[in-house]
Amino acid sequence: MSITVTPTHPEFVAEISGVDLARPLQPADRDAIEDVINRYAIVVFHDQTLTDHQQIDFARHFGPIQSSAQKARHTAIKHRIASNDIADISNLDGDGNVLAPASKRRLDWLANRLWHTDASFRAVPGALSMLYAHVVPDEGGDTEFADLRAAYDALPDKTRKQLEGLIAEHSIWHSRGQLAVTTYTPEERASLPPVPQRVVRTHPGSGRKTLYVAAHASHIIGMPIADGRLLLMDLIEHATQRRFVHAHTWKQGDLVIWDNRCTMHRARPFDTTKVRDLRRVTTRDVASTLEQAA
Ligand code: OGA
Ligand code: MN
Repeated sequence: MSITVTPTHPEFVAEISGVDLARPLQPADRDAIEDVINRYAIVVFHDQTLTDHQQIDFARHFGPIQSSAQKARHTAIKHRIASNDIADISNLDGDGNVLAPASKRRLDWLANRLWHTDASFRAVPGALSMLYAHVVPDEGGDTEFADLRAAYDALPDKTRKQLEGLIAEHSIWHSRGQLAVTTYTPEERASLPPVPQRVVRTHPGSGRKTLYVAAHASHIIGMPIADGRLLLMDLIEHATQRRFVHAHTWKQGDLVIWDNRCTMHRARPFDTTKVRDLRRVTTRDVASTLEQAA
């Protein structure tokens, strides 16, 4: 099978057609898809029909799976999807009903509306996320992506110098705290302590420098918290100018891959009384950003 690649944005984002992801992936297709990911960072496949296991098997071709944080964080509730390899990105409870407005899981999940990159709050963060659409609402619920390599390239020299060597502290509790979602137990908090990550890193697949910032980034280590936080806010504002952003409007059967090492993303609002059932598998980066090229 030979894949067809169609870029859909001047800087990043491409669609791939001509491959059925439910079937065993041929090595040549795997390598071709990896090249497209390295070049475009966001890759869209349409009209796929995948079980959870097929989605996991496909992801495994690109690295070890980062098991979901949700089950560690929500130990007391019933989960709809048993596998730790799938993150349930739906607005459904363990019985398949739409989550109540005040439910803890819904409030936790709302943090996906903030610009972020997956699992930067883990020492070894996320690499590739693969989100698959089972059910999507008629309106709203786009996912937006920002190109952090292009954003880095567009920074003034002076700012790039200023960022050299900086390390941010990332914590999942910081992103939740921004939305005043704070009802976590001491055990939950202790299970995901803050971690350091570089603010600028080299994206291994392209050799390009990229910003590495997110809603989980709280402050810069060694700087007064307020200064570091303002710097991170400025960087996120810079990186999310419309020229660096692409919005994906979901159709059932879409699988979107994004490279967390060089992009940010956020969910957009929709009528949350309607069902939106997306499921994500994420691969793990090779090491902390501190152990990778600056
Ligand atoms: C995610 C995520 C955004 C969305 O799956 O990591 O942030 O639009 N999803 O659901
Ligand atoms: Mn995410």
